[in-house]
Amino acid sequence: MHQRRKKEPGSLPPSPESPMPANLLRSATRFPPRFKSILLIFSLLVNLYLLVNPWSTVEPPLPKISRLTTSITTHHHIVFAIASSSLSWPRREPYVRLWYSPNTTRAFAFLDRPLSNASSSPDIPPVVVSADTSKFPYTFKGGLRSAIRVARIVKEVVERNESDVRWFVFGDDDTVFFMDNLVKTLSKYDHDKWFYIGSNSECYEQNVKNSFDMAFGGGGFAISHSLGRVLARILDSCLMRYPHLYGSDARIYSCLAELGVGLTHEPGFHQVDMRGNLFGLLAAHPLSPLVSLHHLETVEPLFPHMNRTQALEHLLAAANVDPARILQQTVCYDRSNSLAFSVSWGFSIQVFQGKELLPDLLSLQRTFMPWRRSNKVNTHFMFNVRGYPRDPCKSPPVFFMESITSDKRGIWSYYTRLDVGNCFAFNATEPLKQIRVFSTRLELDSEQMKAPRRQCCNVLPSWNDSMTIHIRQCGIDELISMHSKTPLFS
Ligand SMILES: *[C@@H]1O[C@H](CO)[C@@H](O)[C@H](O)[C@H]1NC(C)=O
Ligand SMILES: *[C@@H]1O[C@H](CO)[C@@H](O)[C@H](O)[C@H]1NC(C)=O
Ligand SMILES: *[C@@H]1O[C@H](CO)[C@@H](O)[C@H](O)[C@H]1NC(C)=O
Ligand SMILES: *[C@@H]1O[C@H](CO)[C@@H](O)[C@H](O)[C@H]1NC(C)=O
Ligand SMILES: *[C@@H]1O[C@H](CO)[C@@H](O)[C@H](O)[C@H]1NC(C)=O
Ligand SMILES: *[C@@H]1O[C@H](CO)[C@@H](O)[C@H](O)[C@H]1NC(C)=O
Repeated sequence: MHQRRKKEPGSLPPSPESPMPANLLRSATRFPPRFKSILLIFSLLVNLYLLVNPWSTVEPPLPKISRLTTSITTHHHIVFAIASSSLSWPRREPYVRLWYSPNTTRAFAFLDRPLSNASSSPDIPPVVVSADTSKFPYTFKGGLRSAIRVARIVKEVVERNESDVRWFVFGDDDTVFFMDNLVKTLSKYDHDKWFYIGSNSECYEQNVKNSFDMAFGGGGFAISHSLGRVLARILDSCLMRYPHLYGSDARIYSCLAELGVGLTHEPGFHQVDMRGNLFGLLAAHPLSPLVSLHHLETVEPLFPHMNRTQALEHLLAAANVDPARILQQTVCYDRSNSLAFSVSWGFSIQVFQGKELLPDLLSLQRTFMPWRRSNKVNTHFMFNVRGYPRDPCKSPPVFFMESITSDKRGIWSYYTRLDVGNCFAFNATEPLKQIRVFSTRLELDSEQMKAPRRQCCNVLPSWNDSMTIHIRQCGIDELISMHSKTPLFS
């Protein structure tokens, strides 16, 4: 465990009578000599007490423990501000329901007007009506003035003075958050320092228009409480300088830039400036936990034969079993049959025939289109893409996650082949209808989060209509490739 120890925001400084905190002792060299000797005597006395106290050898000192437990960031430390409107809220509130848990999530939905037929269900966040923004200029031709209102949500949520907040997280009403992964991701950073965390657009052109260093609002972004409080103070004066910008996120980015703060890029946030079929994105997720997905209304349902909400529920059900592993890509090579199995855990498995090299399997199959319809051909994405055959007989067989079970020993996930009619191209895998995957819950501590490594897997030898894949940690110098199992040179 490498938890940071720090003072809770708002807690009182230690009084002279209270036991000396470790960090004060550490910095004792900076104090005048007399104070230093007092400290020395004091710490001697404490040590003496610990030696004499019969419990001291049995139980670790208590103050340390409580400091450790208070420093773990949990769901409770995050306050969400959801940008919505009276028009979109009734339609999109089902997306919020997917990730919002009334008892553990702290969230507010900001609307332009009160709902005429408001039914305050406990299953959805409370609605807040944003303040008037008519005094702010807005000059972007064809844009929406509501960008100012949405930018000011940052100020409005901070000024609610909610207690015990470490992070403010902003998203749209069509953003779906993967809570455990968001908490884990934010835990990597010190909430007492100034952090602006998120991700830019998948489309190069969108980043050119805005900024490569801007967190796109739909993908969601996080601001540490300390930065949030300062940003709230300066926001209104700063907004007056940016009437020419299109969106709310560009305004927040600009004001943070004026404060001298840059973006900390976390690839798990997804703006999803894409249309069509997201398969290629979901089958080759980066090696970071999935934090958010956006624009789910404008893409096809994530799983075949399901509607949008059903498909999302299906993905979230898998994410609830093993949050850190959801969409994590693992590749196993079956040397005897010259096959490569690319697993995107909780989503899909593709079976490639022949000598596919790992880096090729990690690039995204272009099953989607860019956000701007006019830009179909010339769009560049922010990642490597490769072609995806339109003819389903020419694309590798795909198995979609059907169900997941777990017990004390581990987790079984089951993937069923998508029936695409009569194709003869992949006869080696022709009889294969189902793939079972065994794994154990992926628990990454914050050090492993900072230096992640892809896992390895084995194809269990005998298979006919169904087969088994076993996901596990790689050996220290194990390579993910068709040919080498053990390094040739060592
Ligand atoms: C939420 O809290 C309420 C009251 O404390 C309790 O009755 C309810 O069962 C809880 N719901 C869940 C899903 O934990
Ligand atoms: C509220 O009214 C709008 C139209 O005025 C309607 O579309 C929506 O379904 C209503 N919502 C509820 C919860 O009754
Ligand atoms: C939050 O605190 C500030 C400063 O103490 C105060 O001006 C403001 O009214 C408070 N807001 C609420 C909603 O209590
Ligand atoms: C999606 O399917 C579920 C289950 O069949 C159904 O309850 C829900 O109304 C459907 N949603 C839409 C938007 O069609
Ligand atoms: C697979 O198809 C090829 C021709 O496309 C054929 O030569 C080969 O024998 C087939 N293999 C099996 C196992 O059916
Ligand atoms: C698949 O293999 C298992 C055990 O190897 C065997 O029991 C089963 O009958 C086989 N199924 C088919 C369809 O060949």
